[in-house]
This record gives sequence, C-alpha cells and structure tokens, in this order.
Amino acid sequence: MNRIPQSFIDDLLNRLDIVEVVDHRVKLKKSGKNYSACCPFHDEKTPSFSVSPDKQFYYCFGCGASGNAIGFLMEYERQGFVDAVESLAKTAGMQVPKEETKESREQHFKQKNIYDTLEKASDYYQTQLKENPKRDLAVRYLQNRGLSGAIAKRFGMGYAPPGWDNLLIKFGLTEEDIDLQIDSGLVIRRDDNNKLYDRFRHRIMFPIRDTRGRAIGFGGRVLDDSKPKYLNSPETDVFHKGRELYGLYEARQASRNLEQLLVVEGYMDVIALAQYGINNAVATLGTACGEDHLRLAFRYVQEVVFCFDGDNAGRTAAKRALMNSISSMEDGRQIRFLFLPEGQDPDTMVRQIGAERFLEQVKAGIPLEDFLFDAAAEGIDIHTMDGRARFTKVAAPLLNKIPQGVYRELMFTNLAKRTGLSSSAIMELTAEKAQLANLEERPAPAPAPAPATEEIPPPELNQGPNESGDIDIPEPPPANYEEDYGTLFQGESEETTSAPTLRKRTSVSLNPVKAATLLLLDNPQLLQQLDKEQQLQAHETQDTELLRLFNLIEYLHKRPNSNFSTLLGFWGGAYGIDSQQELAKMLATHELTRNSKLSTFEPAQVLRHAFDKIHKQFTNQDRQRELAELKNKGLANLSAEEKNRFRELIQSYRPSPNI
Ligand code: UTP
Ligand code: MN
Repeated sequence: MNRIPQSFIDDLLNRLDIVEVVDHRVKLKKSGKNYSACCPFHDEKTPSFSVSPDKQFYYCFGCGASGNAIGFLMEYERQGFVDAVESLAKTAGMQVPKEETKESREQHFKQKNIYDTLEKASDYYQTQLKENPKRDLAVRYLQNRGLSGAIAKRFGMGYAPPGWDNLLIKFGLTEEDIDLQIDSGLVIRRDDNNKLYDRFRHRIMFPIRDTRGRAIGFGGRVLDDSKPKYLNSPETDVFHKGRELYGLYEARQASRNLEQLLVVEGYMDVIALAQYGINNAVATLGTACGEDHLRLAFRYVQEVVFCFDGDNAGRTAAKRALMNSISSMEDGRQIRFLFLPEGQDPDTMVRQIGAERFLEQVKAGIPLEDFLFDAAAEGIDIHTMDGRARFTKVAAPLLNKIPQGVYRELMFTNLAKRTGLSSSAIMELTAEKAQLANLEERPAPAPAPAPATEEIPPPELNQGPNESGDIDIPEPPPANYEEDYGTLFQGESEETTSAPTLRKRTSVSLNPVKAATLLLLDNPQLLQQLDKEQQLQAHETQDTELLRLFNLIEYLHKRPNSNFSTLLGFWGGAYGIDSQQELAKMLATHELTRNSKLSTFEPAQVLRHAFDKIHKQFTNQDRQRELAELKNKGLANLSAEEKNRFRELIQSYRPSPNI
C-alpha cells in the first residue's frame, strides 16, 4: 500500500474539481445540476455516465463504474494510485509528501514483475508452438480438434514443451528470479526436497487475460488422455479464479457493442465458438459461476446465457448458477439457461450443427424465471394444497433475493398465480417476514395463525401499525419509485405530522437501513446532529446492508470531516470495489431523482427515526430469542422469576402503536 498521508489525499480531493478532471479527458455536458457523457469505461451510444459537482464523484448507470477524481484517473489513464495522486497534485500545484515505505515499494514492484513475468511466459509458450522441435505433436493436436491457426493466435495459445526446467532456465536462476517465477505460479518448489520444476510441461497453453488483456494466469491441457486433463495457475497476487472470465477480453476485442455473454464451461468451448463466429462466449475457470463472475459479466452486457450439459451434473451446476444469479437480476437484465443434449458441449455442438442453429438454441434458452420455478417445484406435486404450500416456501425466499424493482414484483405476481395465493400473502412468507412468521407460535392472545395455504389478508388492509419495520410513506409511488429515495423524505414529514388514523395504505415502504445509509451518504455531517443517546449502537448481525451501515457510522465517527468523495475513496480500499459501487449507485440514483421539496424536510429527524426503527427491530429480535429459550425449557420447568419474564415478553410483543 501507499503511504501517502490520508490528510493529504483529503486536501487534494477538496482542492480539485472532479468536473474539470473528467472534462479535460472526456467532454462533459451539463445536465441538470450534474454533468453527463457517454461512459469512457464501456461502449454506449446514449450517455449514462454522470459526474456530480456537488458530491465530487462519478457514476455510470450503465456499467457501474464509480469513484472520486483519483479513482477516475486511475481507471481512465490506467495508473496506479500513487501515480494518479501525483499527477493530480501536480495540476493542483501541490507537493505529495512522500512517506513511501520499503514494503510498499517492494509490493508495487513485485506486482509489476509478476505481470511482466507472465507476459514473457505467454510469449515464450506462443513461440514454442511455432518453433519448438517437438511442436508437431501440439500442432497436430490442435488441427485434429479443428482449430485454425488464426483462432489460436487470437487467443494467444501456446505450447509448453516437455521438460522440467524450460522456464527456469529461460528466466534465470538467481534467487530473485526463482521467487518471481514461483510467485507467478509458473514454477513449483517441492515441499519435501526443495527441488524446483516447471508447472506446465508438454501441454497446450491457454493464457487467461484480464479485461485489459494482460496475461494473469494459464490453463494447460494435455495432448492425450492422461490426467489431470487441465492444469491451471494457482491463485496469485494477480490471479483470482473467482473473479475472472476466460475469453472476456477477446470477446470485448471482437465486438465494441457486446450485448450478451454466453457462459460455457471450458476453454475449448470458448475458442471453438469463436472460430464459428460466435465471439461472445466466456468460461469460468473450472469453478462454478459465482456472484463476482456475474457482476463482471453484467458490467459489459445486459444478458447472460448459461450453457450446461443436459445430464445430471449439468443440471446441478445450473442450479448452483441459478442460486448465484438471482441477486444480480436487476431490472433490464436477463439470464437464460441452455441445456445441451447429453454428452455434448458447445465445442462439439457447434461443429456438429453450425453457428446458425447453435444460436437458435441460445435464443430458445430457458429464461431464469421459468428455470427458477421449475427447480423450486422439483419433487413437489403442486396440484395439492400441501404441495403448493411447500412450493411457495421454497420459491419465496429465492424471489426475495431479487433486487428491488419491477422484475421482482412480476416474479412475486407470477408465484402468486402459480399458487393461488395473494402476492401479499407470499410477501409475508419471504425471508424478512419469516422472522415474524415464527411468531405464529407466539403464546400471546393473538389472532389464530392462518395456515399457509389460506388467503391472508393483504397487509395494507390490516388495521394497526406496520410490523415489518419499514418506514411507511403515505404517498402513491411515482412512476419510477424503485430507487426514488426522494420520496422517503417527502413522506416522512407527512408521516410525522399526520395523525395515526386508520387509512388505506397506498404507500411505498423503505427499509430504514437503506434510508439511514443514504442519508449519511448524502450528508455525512448529519451524524453529528444527533445526540449521544440517539446514535445507533452496533449490534451483532448477518445482514450485509446493516453491517455496511455500522461500518459507515464507525467511519464517520472516526472522520467527522469527511465528505462523500473522500468516503468513496476510503470505501473502495477498505471494502472492495463492489461495495464502493453500491454506495455510488445509491447516491447517484438519489441525485438524479432528488426532489426539490427535499429541503423543506429535516433529514436529522428522518435519520433519528430510521435509527429508532432499526434499534426496535433488534430489541424485538432479542426478545424473541429470549422467549424462544424460555419456551424451550418448557413452561412447567420455569422458575417464578422466569415465568414473570415470560409474561413480560409476551406483552411486549404487541407492536407498540406509536411507530
Ligand atoms: P471440460 O472437461 O468440459 O473441458 O472441463 P473442455 O474445455 O471441454 O476440454 P476438452 O474439450 O476436453 O479439451 C471444463 C473446464 O473445467 C476445467 C477447465 O477450465 C475446463 O476448460 N477443468 C477441467 C480443469 O480445470 N481441470 C480438469 O482436469 C478438467
Ligand atoms: Mn470439450
């Protein structure tokens, strides 16, 4: 890591104007109070890249790229952090105080050296495919598999010749050289006798490239039936299997306007498809397609199609991919599943039926929605009431993972149709409410619990307060209400002034955790306006959004003078780029939809209210846990004191009407 003092970075960010920094490189147009342009980080025809002069950050609604001025320069000019800070300091006429440590320098050099080593290795393997005396075997193998020279070149394919020390000798035998080869994953040191040897021997080599085209690792295939069929680079400082898609760089090179990615299983599948003109295939590296893979894919396209074998293993893999994909189903995105006939993979398939028919099959892939309901219904007879109840219980928590939006709503409606339940009854069954659903067993004189298959009255017709813990907003949702945090404030002030009378709720509920997070992002100083006893105390939780809120609060307490731009920079470093993007997205969306009426409401009050809600949820959960413990003991076994406590707890379950 760099050792530039944080205070200097804050100063620098405060002195710069991100609009100038960006505009200097990408011409910006004023649009409302922000600026916009076509995004320099992905291809697009209509601008979705937006820069906020107020909050000093940029965000692309298309690809999610986000950051402050330093982040922009790093991405745009492909510079490291230190270089970006230095060049910005220069334009701002500031001198960077150097506190670089020996370790940071070494780390920096090491990474660079690893990239260089991998690049050299890749060149070496490619040359061997052309020049090695034993190349014939490799060339013949590739020819037998129907690969053209042109396609092999495009994917940088190569050949690691037989022998234990080709690379070792080529790259030198000083201690430093050797360490670098080990750190790059190219050379292995045996544990028992410290002997060194090349990892890849007598194999066809597939360089794995990052989105900038740098080789970051390799896959190597044997030329016959021996095992293991493929060897892959180990995880290194620059190679993380869970985050890379083989072929993505080549796909982006082939087309400036990718719309869809085809996720296949093997290197050979990607390459065979490309040879047939299907240039949008990518593969995971022998691992399941995880959430990070999908995030990467959806940075560039709106549609992902998975190809799987039609056999059992394929179906199991597909279900795993399904589970990993649900949370990325934001509106506008699409995922489909294509099952190939048993024993086929895309490589054999496209060679057999040709590109045109292959693409027809891709088009006919099963949409995620259908596959999800199919998978949830597996082994269940949904013609019986009991079956439908079980089906709902399997499907509803899955749907609950879909991000807020129209698609989510449609999926719940769809589930309702399939089960004959009302969507509000189903909502009740989703994870958030599952906790409350446990209260069905509560011993309090509550209304009799409804069986799951029976129509539960929609909550909006229920009398009394809202138990979900969401903040109610007594306003019909605007057309684009999904992320319209603006209405929170609008509704909130009405909420606090309107009498708690019974009303038909046509309201949007906003999760208090989201609300509090957004408020703090929008105005980091808000926290200081709350008294000590109004602050939210951290509490044990598994909920990632809540954890993020706690982290945010902790950060703001530590650095009360920060603003969104400095916060965003810190966040990327501390919690990763995805988390940074999420924050940027929240605020950018908010900036877009900001309501001018906003200023007439008092955010501190809303924040206090949200904190209060969260606090109450915890108190409730704690009580619930305590109650369950007492119940487990069995009523008869409780001491007098415990019985009293039990009664107390039951009483306190009645939701207090003043929320
Ligand atoms: P496949 O066995 O389907 O490979 O494994 P393939 O690409 O079709 O290869 P060919 O056609 O037999 O040459 C799919 C992927 O799983 C990983 C590789 O990434 C491979 O491309 N794999 C497979 C390994 O990492 N190790 C292995 O031993 C086998
Ligand atoms: Mn294959």
